[in-house]
Amino acid sequence: MTMDLHEQARQILRQNDRGGYTLPTHGLYPYQWNWDSAFAAWGFATFDLPRAWDEIDTLLASQWDDGMVPHIIFHDPDPGYFPGPDVWSAGGDPATSGISQPPVAATLVRLIYEMNPDASRDRLAAVYPKLVEWHRWWHEVRCVHGPAAIVHPWESGRDNCPDWDIGMANVDGSKVGDYTRRDTGHVDPSMRPKKSEYDRYLAMVQFGKSVGWDQKRIVSEGPFLMADPGITFILLRAHHDLAVLGHALDQDTDEIEGWETTLRAALPMIWNDDLQGYDAKDLRTGKFARFLGSGAFLAYLANAARPELDTQLMRVWNAVPYGIPSADPEAPIFDARRYWRGPTWPVVNSLLAIGFRDMGRADLEVRLRRETAELIMKNGFSEYFDPTDATPCGGANFTWTAAIWLTWAGQDYEQAKGAA
Ligand code: DGY
Repeated sequence: MTMDLHEQARQILRQNDRGGYTLPTHGLYPYQWNWDSAFAAWGFATFDLPRAWDEIDTLLASQWDDGMVPHIIFHDPDPGYFPGPDVWSAGGDPATSGISQPPVAATLVRLIYEMNPDASRDRLAAVYPKLVEWHRWWHEVRCVHGPAAIVHPWESGRDNCPDWDIGMANVDGSKVGDYTRRDTGHVDPSMRPKKSEYDRYLAMVQFGKSVGWDQKRIVSEGPFLMADPGITFILLRAHHDLAVLGHALDQDTDEIEGWETTLRAALPMIWNDDLQGYDAKDLRTGKFARFLGSGAFLAYLANAARPELDTQLMRVWNAVPYGIPSADPEAPIFDARRYWRGPTWPVVNSLLAIGFRDMGRADLEVRLRRETAELIMKNGFSEYFDPTDATPCGGANFTWTAAIWLTWAGQDYEQAKGAA
């Protein structure tokens, strides 16, 4: 029997709810992930506002003393995931990983707050100082070279996108020892990163552990440091939204507005004229990655688009029928089903749509919403999709795909039934 897709989406959120935090999906990701959690909160806000705020509270409860909000919170040890808390050895109770993830929280908290300001004001006041501390950490620790830098591809949230290949080439993964991956036991290995990438991912974790997760040392001495256009634009937008929230709470927001101005002034550093687009940069060598992908297009979220980028966006988007791909379909490296090397991600589409809408580009927003909705109506709430033929990829019954159906993609399809 088919079920209303809105009800299916709500059920996915409830089924992935572990009491105050939400798994991205059962099996593949059995813990709380930072940016997944912020999207979960946005989804919950459509039918259970207090539960939405609980999610944000749980996420920020694991904030480090230096302000960082970690990318994984290992609430309940699960041998089905690797690398777990013992490999990270980053401490915390519950234990956490030792890196961060895209700071979408302030932007989504603003959307949640604006759904019902009266009912949300006290909850917002409780989380606001923690968000400020986290943004200060980004400014002081990760933005020391100008744009937002990442010390591990997992920090970008776009783990194996081609942007990182140039930096990964300098990481020695040959000495990490034996290990058993768990991700490839949950989903088709052809949709996941390769072993050569995992070896390097682990080498970076081992380095962090060797310096006691001293974040400043990891930035100055670690094996990998790249400017990430994706996080730069997400943070730029989030600084702006955080300042709006500060105004709503009658706070002084000068410091936040200063971070926003400084970060915007750094954007020319990640503009590659040869590529005619924003580009990731290896901060150890100064070299550009020379790949166009969804990180660059997140410029629309931060009101940082340029006419040349419009041309690139339409070229890349028109090359596939479903959504904006994570990598350029005309580049030889494009791999339609392999994680961040080609597939379209409903969750990234939802961020791009916020940007299109705010820029007054209703035509782009409507098209992206229709294509994203088609993927979900055809093939369910998958983690990501092949943009050439809509094949569902990665984990199924995925929290953030369900959340963006409820908040954005499904808005014209209140009564739609799933394909199953
Ligand atoms: C994974 O395990 O694939 C995650 O993306 C790491 O954060």
